[in-house]
Amino acid sequence: MINNFSFQNPVKVVFGKGTIAQLPKLIDKKNKIMLTYGGGSIFKNGVYVQVKKALSGFEIIEFGGIEPNPTYETLMKAVAIARQEEVDFLLPVGGGSVLDGTKFIAAAVPYEGNDEWNDIVLGAKRYSEALPIGAVLTLPATGSEMNYYAVISRTETQEKYGMGSPVLYPKFSILDPETTFSLPKTQIANGIADAFVHVMEQYLTFDQNTPIQDRFAEGVLSTLIEVAPKVLAENPAYEDMANYMWAATVALNGWISTGVAQDWATHAIGHEITALHGIDHARTLAVVLPHLMAYKKDRKLSKIVQYGKRVWDINADADQTAELAIEKTVAFFESLGIPSKASAYGIGEETIAEIEKRFAERNQKIGEHGDISAEDIRKILEMSIS
Ligand code: NZQ
Ligand code: ZN
Repeated sequence: MINNFSFQNPVKVVFGKGTIAQLPKLIDKKNKIMLTYGGGSIFKNGVYVQVKKALSGFEIIEFGGIEPNPTYETLMKAVAIARQEEVDFLLPVGGGSVLDGTKFIAAAVPYEGNDEWNDIVLGAKRYSEALPIGAVLTLPATGSEMNYYAVISRTETQEKYGMGSPVLYPKFSILDPETTFSLPKTQIANGIADAFVHVMEQYLTFDQNTPIQDRFAEGVLSTLIEVAPKVLAENPAYEDMANYMWAATVALNGWISTGVAQDWATHAIGHEITALHGIDHARTLAVVLPHLMAYKKDRKLSKIVQYGKRVWDINADADQTAELAIEKTVAFFESLGIPSKASAYGIGEETIAEIEKRFAERNQKIGEHGDISAEDIRKILEMSIS
């Protein structure tokens, strides 16, 4: 049965070719804007020029250098500048890391305490104020453009945590698929894999008699599977990049998860791997998900079988369908050039022990039933290195 819910997603999505030119209609000229960006891809692919041209005559200061897996240390520098300059609008231009980092900045600028890490990232205090954000997305993957989450890392302690609040929804997000043509194939593969796992986290739980949510999830999974070889080929078509971009957005904008139980164990474990090894977010998911599916096969059986039948067209008995569905999932990641064994990334027993320790110290159990303990996490990761 679908659970009680209230749902509101206030993000205005402006989608399509040439839409960066609409920026002046979306931001008030009275605003003092901080344009945030990453390592400079926006200068090479013409996105920066388009943004500046659209916003000529607007007051803009710039903050660059937000790294993939954005760090608290870098972001606090932006917070100091934004406070000093009395910025009142944030315009992230880039991938999920730039958007996420900017969400943190948005919450931190008006915050009046003295421990942004603890209170905002770890969520020790509620905050009801944030600077408004409008985003220009250049990497379809995270869904950050249409959700209120951010994932922030801390270099000093090798930590990585998710945070979020409804006040962090972007006011608008511009999604122009033409900005994605400069993406390296590895980032496109990451984007497909990340979006795929986002859907799986919200879908692959247990039978809840939620056919709208299930079929919506299966539709997004099938779309990602279909579009993947097209966008990874040389010279992809605009329409395929557009389908990929929209699929990644709806994979994590709240539609699929409304009223259903969710898993998110793969992400929780994956974040620890990135925190310790700096491995790309999507790749950490590929080394966890198939092993987690195998480890939790009995409890997830009805949904794994449904996924196998509907997404992969497998027609066998339940047990065999589940086995084949897991194999198909591994083969899909590998078709993207993403290995699904942690050992392929040089991860061994030492990392696994550290991750087990972290979950044990936090006394944290994860998964849709809250039944995956630190010890289970070790066993899942051991399957990934064997
Ligand atoms: O930094 P620049 O120079 O812009 O280059 C970036 C970066 O090196 C590059 N790039 C982005 N757009 C490009 C481009 N290169 C060429 N052409 C373009 N159009 O791609 C590299 C990776 O960018 P990044 O933003 O780090 O990737 P992604 O969008 O995959 O974001 C990953 C981060 O998002 C978090 C992850 O944990 C990770 O920190 N996530 C955020 C979520 C959310 N907010 O809801 C959910 C996800 O599960 C995820 O955890
Ligand atoms: Zn993700």
